[in-house]
Amino acid sequence: MNQETLHESATPRHAEADEANVRALVEAFYHRVDDDPLLGPIFTRELTGRWDEHLAKMTTFWSSLVLGSKQYRGNVQEAHRPLGDIEPQHFARWLSLFLNTVEARYEPAAAVLFMEPALRIAQSLQLSKFGWDYKIPDEQIDLLAALKRLRTGKDEPELPARADGEPFPAKFVGKGTERPG
Ligand code: HEM
Repeated sequence: MNQETLHESATPRHAEADEANVRALVEAFYHRVDDDPLLGPIFTRELTGRWDEHLAKMTTFWSSLVLGSKQYRGNVQEAHRPLGDIEPQHFARWLSLFLNTVEARYEPAAAVLFMEPALRIAQSLQLSKFGWDYKIPDEQIDLLAALKRLRTGKDEPELPARADGEPFPAKFVGKGTERPG
């Protein structure tokens, strides 16, 4: 695993989410999305001229989920329905960028509050896009289970070995350094 992806800066991590740091998280994440060779072109195509609106909406969305601000009024499924050219690799990359951006900015107890809903919503978006028979990648299932254990304090999180795939923040929840490869 590339350790550089896990720590984007030396800034101390936030112990708790607040409106200012949620906004900063959203900006940092979409900056990385915009720079990404796989995702960047899709977002450029969809959001040119509307980036400010999107960042404001996503700040409201995450604040609603994590801070309980209840301001978000949208339909996440509907918003993604027009995107016809999305493949499993796009979800893997979106999650990799998001989870690693969160991991770099929040201490574990706060980070989990973003990571779990991101993985759950990603699962439901993938099932609606690719069909109900689509098999959600094991790494996503396993990470969600490990995050739940971390949040509930049950068991030592233990992730299975992953030879390839996107660099999810396995070290954050598991024993990344002890795994082979
Ligand atoms: C393949 C991965 C993804 C791609 C390419 C993608 C792309 C987009 C795009 C282009 C929009 C703007 C739609 C518009 O205003 O025209 C959008 C909106 C949004 N996305 Fe995603 N997205 C992805 C995954 C996710 C995931 C996993 C989440 C889970 C948190 C998410 C949450 C949202 C939300 C909340 C909105 C705003 C919906 C609204 O208009 O109310 N997206 N996404």
